[in-house]
Amino acid sequence: MSASHPAEPWRIKMVEPLRSTTRDQRAQALREAGYNISLLRSEDVYIDLYTDSGTSAMSDRQWAALMIGDEAYAGARSFYRLEEAVHRYYGYEHVIPTHQGRGAENILSRCLVRPGTHVPGNMYFTTTRAHQELNGAVFHDVIIDQAHDPVSDHPFKGDIDLAKLERLIHEVGADLIPYVSLAATVNMAGGQPISMAGLTALRDLTQRHGIPIILDAARAVENAWFIKQREPGWDGRAIADILRAICDLTDGAAMSAKKDSYANIGGWLAFRAPDLAERARNLVVLYEGLHTYGGMAGRDMEAVAQGIAESVQEDNIRTRVQQVAYLGQRLAVAGVPIVRPVGGHAVCVDAAAFLPHLPREQFPAQTLAAVLYLDSGVRSTERGAVSAGRDPATGLDRFPALELVRLTVPRRTYTQSHMDLVADSLIHVFRQRAQIICGLSFVHEPPTLRFFQARFAPVSDAPFFE
Ligand code: F0G
Repeated sequence: MSASHPAEPWRIKMVEPLRSTTRDQRAQALREAGYNISLLRSEDVYIDLYTDSGTSAMSDRQWAALMIGDEAYAGARSFYRLEEAVHRYYGYEHVIPTHQGRGAENILSRCLVRPGTHVPGNMYFTTTRAHQELNGAVFHDVIIDQAHDPVSDHPFKGDIDLAKLERLIHEVGADLIPYVSLAATVNMAGGQPISMAGLTALRDLTQRHGIPIILDAARAVENAWFIKQREPGWDGRAIADILRAICDLTDGAAMSAKKDSYANIGGWLAFRAPDLAERARNLVVLYEGLHTYGGMAGRDMEAVAQGIAESVQEDNIRTRVQQVAYLGQRLAVAGVPIVRPVGGHAVCVDAAAFLPHLPREQFPAQTLAAVLYLDSGVRSTERGAVSAGRDPATGLDRFPALELVRLTVPRRTYTQSHMDLVADSLIHVFRQRAQIICGLSFVHEPPTLRFFQARFAPVSDAPFFE
């Protein structure tokens, strides 16, 4: 039998009620949140596409695993189970647990980054770059140009432009480049993958200069899925093999287990070099917890270990990516400008093209996210100038080429009808976009990762969106 849309490889055993609200209630909630969707109470949100991080549904096996968590302070059995899962599926020798991805980024940056160093990467990620900069590095975006172009259909928009990287090595010298920060997939580009060919060529170049590659593995399984679909020679391979092949070309990884691994919390840092691992273990006891729990409870480590095994199952990853593609397809057919091709974890709406009449200084993506919430209670994320923050050297706003509203789909959490509701609402807003006559400006702007806690107000007294 061939189904018109592939069905989910699971059925639902437990449900969580959603609360729907009136438009007046949402207008009130939005005002109280300073027009920042990050500050909304989740109770006031109907469908929450703010993030896919820690919001996925765990399986019955993961819930069962929680019960056998070993809560010993030192040497917990659950740590060894996690370590075993990372060895087996990611292949790194040394595993240091952390409370989540940014815990791993903190330790990694403290281990490797010194003032005056330069970290190249395939587009920035907010927390990743913040830790690199806090430790004194300058971040350099060396991703291919197509990644900054929302309408380019390049199949591997996450790839690094080796000419850009070589130029940087030539300019600053390999000694001042502690590592290449390689994300797979690239969140801020819209969940775009790297190719195995690109990674192999990157490996050749960096090895010649003695520069390690550190993988951001948060969504590497999703990346493996795209390699299987799009890269010649890989279509017959198991997802687990492709994941392993990616990791084998890198020297270590920082992981947020809240993404691919379906866990509500957790992360890890991994290295091949024993001396680096030793340094990281010494730091983890200061910042996270003992090196056999790193800020996680024993039960969390069990859930992550089980989630890793589930994440590489072909039908799980297929359903996950295809659900995102379904949402993207519905929007594209209606003419809503989205980043192409649709990424692994999210559909990203090109807010600059959606609201071309709003200047970038009025934050079109932040504005559109607020309007979408007002229309239907759907919460998205801003991934544009507000997320990009200010340049630490000049203090000026950074205006990245991509001004996006990200509709981030948690795994195994929402149904196709929820995706339809999201699409219907956004298409409705799109058809009335001329009525959005002004954007937002800051009322309160925090110094770091400002997008989380900033407050805004509409730029003029004009009706915000009626
Ligand atoms: N790296 C990537 C690529 C991420 O997307 C995230 C988190 C992190 C690192 C940090 O991990 O949250 O566990 O500390 N991304 C979430 C998002 C927050 O919504 O994009 P964390």
